[in-house]
Amino acid sequence: MKFKKRLMSVLMIGVLSIGGLAGCTTNDASNSNKNEGSIDTEETKVESAKDDKKVEGGEVNIYTARHYDADKLINEKFEKETGIKVNIVEGKAEELIERLEREGESSEADLFITVDGGVLNTAKEKDLLQDSSSEIIDKQVPEKYRDSDNNWIGLSTRARVIAYSKDRVKPEDLSTYDDLTTDKWKGKVLARPSSSLYNQSLLASFIILDGEEKAKAWAEGIVKNFAREPNGNDRDQAKAIVAGEGDVAIMNTYYMGLLANSDDAEEMKVGEAVGVFFPNQDSTGAHLNISGAGVTKYSKNKDNAIKFIEYLTAKEAQTEISNANYEFPVNNEAEMPELLKSWGEFKPQDIDYSKLGENNKRATEILNEVGWK
Ligand code: FE2
Repeated sequence: MKFKKRLMSVLMIGVLSIGGLAGCTTNDASNSNKNEGSIDTEETKVESAKDDKKVEGGEVNIYTARHYDADKLINEKFEKETGIKVNIVEGKAEELIERLEREGESSEADLFITVDGGVLNTAKEKDLLQDSSSEIIDKQVPEKYRDSDNNWIGLSTRARVIAYSKDRVKPEDLSTYDDLTTDKWKGKVLARPSSSLYNQSLLASFIILDGEEKAKAWAEGIVKNFAREPNGNDRDQAKAIVAGEGDVAIMNTYYMGLLANSDDAEEMKVGEAVGVFFPNQDSTGAHLNISGAGVTKYSKNKDNAIKFIEYLTAKEAQTEISNANYEFPVNNEAEMPELLKSWGEFKPQDIDYSKLGENNKRATEILNEVGWK
């Protein structure tokens, strides 16, 4: 009940800053697609805040930066199967972390969920999470997708790759992220703005793997080859390829799945006309980021929170996340949709996610220095 009241007051603030509450789609205010629409999110929150019925299994209160339809369906199923009520507060990762810090012991949050390994580690470092070990989770999620102290557990992964025009670019023309900075791609590279955590983490991964100097040269080279000023979200870059504005784009794999399987005929066409290329396969690998969940330090419903992570990482929910949102599952037993299988196996970067968070500040500075809007 107390949580509902708090939720209501958050909603009042939320209404004033709708664009700022769209989860991992910071700059997607222009996007009308339901998967990224912040207005939808607001409506959902109002509904859940009004829903005052008590449920026998208690509740689990989640602060999440994930914003996908697939998640809502899985939450509903969890409620039905366990009798545990799921209360959701959506927000940008940084805002949710700030809120957890501000609320301290009085926070109603039981779980923090976000889409970036760096942010998960920032939450850990700020002492906002706690050990959420469970035998079931250990079995379902390989160690490489869990924090070393089990302060957060991976839920899915996504690669940030090169999307290309199937008409104008042959996969043989593509090779590495670095290659995109050569003259061959002058005026042909598309990317969203640098305020996107996705781009910041990509550059942070280059700082980790290649050092700051090379990472900065890369960002400079990309800016030099931009087809247009960065604008829109990941999906808008694929749309710009089809519109002929550029030939290649830096984007996350799951958006290609969402486009190819969209209800919107135009988006479906974009999904078909644009290919996915995994760069750096002979060297450092494709940038792979992780979405994950951590039980908050002052959780009042820790058992339910762990049950929820167990549910999300079980074969069934993992298969659903992959089928509906085109992310890669962390549970090896989960089934992937045909599209993801068709992309084939790929070599991902081998980096410590905690270092992504540590290098975020420098990455953001570099992006500003090189004029990546
Ligand atoms: Fe996203």
